[in-house]
Amino acid sequence: VTREEKILMCVNGYFGETALKAARTHKRNIVLLEKDYGEAITPEDVEKALKENEDVRAAFVVYNETSTAVMNPLRELCKVFKEHDLLVMVDAISIFGGAEINMDEWGIDLCVGYASKALGGMPGICPMGISKRLWKILDERTAEPDAWYLDFRTWKKSIEEMSAWGHPHPSSMPTHTVIALHKALKRVIDEGLENVYKRHRVFSAAFRNAVKAMNLQLVAPEEYASPTITAIRLPEGIPKKLIDGMLDNFNIMISGGLGKLAGKIVRVGHMGFTARRDHISRTITALGYTLKELGFNVSVDAALKAFYDSI
Ligand SMILES: Cc1ncc(COP(=O)(O)O)c(C=O)c1O
Repeated sequence: VTREEKILMCVNGYFGETALKAARTHKRNIVLLEKDYGEAITPEDVEKALKENEDVRAAFVVYNETSTAVMNPLRELCKVFKEHDLLVMVDAISIFGGAEINMDEWGIDLCVGYASKALGGMPGICPMGISKRLWKILDERTAEPDAWYLDFRTWKKSIEEMSAWGHPHPSSMPTHTVIALHKALKRVIDEGLENVYKRHRVFSAAFRNAVKAMNLQLVAPEEYASPTITAIRLPEGIPKKLIDGMLDNFNIMISGGLGKLAGKIVRVGHMGFTARRDHISRTITALGYTLKELGFNVSVDAALKAFYDSI
């Protein structure tokens, strides 16, 4: 996308905001579609934004907004993007390997995944998918790129010229991370992609049922609930105590809120190898006991029953 062409930035959380900052830093021509933290971007929102801005060339959306645990309805959003013939860029970082993403069928041009998170490899590299249509645009582009390292053509050249001697990177390769990614991919393929997606779906829903059985409030509406992470609203001051208590007493690390939800929520990841019965049941126990210590009237038994009844 050139600096003149308009890009629709769909933002409904901290990671959308981060991408927006990056787009602004690169002085892109932005049309902003903003929803509140905890809300989803819907096809109707996109239709409305595109009606008001007919000359938009590309769209960006975060598939799984990790700051709120909202999974945007990407497949449906892509249908609208396709009707308007937009180039589609997706941040799939925290869901890549945890739910289906069909680039060709849905019409995604750039899909950014992650080596760790749902795939279970190590951080440090991002697997990316680039459509044939986007490669053609990149190959034919005459505008100067903003950066050498971030120019996909730099990477393509390295893949074409240096793969034969095991170095398809334009810079030093983080070999440990590449090897870890290879192992993680093998594990996922051995389990079977559909089985992996189902495991994330089943265990995330079961975890949410346990949270509801503790009478806690979820940030994401059930319809848009993420299969890889759950965000829970808590009174001011509690998140930090809960995070510290679970780490100190149970050696279980959960996260706090980001951006507008800083200090107001906790986030529990259940992705990759943590989307399993043993990890989640221990997390529920630790969550319940720590909340009890903090004065909450929660039943760990009821939460565990809700969990086991759901799997
Ligand atoms: C949806 C999403 N986008 C972007 C990022 C940023 O990735 P990094 O931690 O490598 O900066 C994250 C990290 O958690 C994320 O969840």
